[in-house]
Amino acid sequence: GAPIEVDLAPITEGQVIKVTWRGKPIFISHRTAEEVKQAQSVPMSQLKDPQTDQDRTKTGHEQWLVVIGICTHLGCIPIAKSGEYNGWFCPCHGSVYDDSGRIRQGPAPLNLAIPPYRFVSDSKIEIG
Ligand code: FES
Repeated sequence: GAPIEVDLAPITEGQVIKVTWRGKPIFISHRTAEEVKQAQSVPMSQLKDPQTDQDRTKTGHEQWLVVIGICTHLGCIPIAKSGEYNGWFCPCHGSVYDDSGRIRQGPAPLNLAIPPYRFVSDSKIEIG
């Protein structure tokens, strides 16, 4: 499939949108400064699949989180802006991801995957 471009300008702070890339749901989260700060300060010892927030975002664009919306347990689509960590909650078997898309509770073994993407400009990304 071809790469897709997504205009980020209409996505307000605190909002998460869903787009489709290669038939997969992709969530794009415009995080607040407070959320970013919190995500960056989580100790690795609290994580089942340890990754820093910086590992999962692009330098200079840390407010944007882009993840593949497929639960790493058995593939359900988790619900954005829900669960104890204000991230994603998977209704199938109760996996809870934080607002960096990292697995925090439940049976899923891994963080939500990050698709290949790049910033074309400050307000536009290309996924794929
Ligand atoms: Fe998400 Fe099982 S598929 S918790």
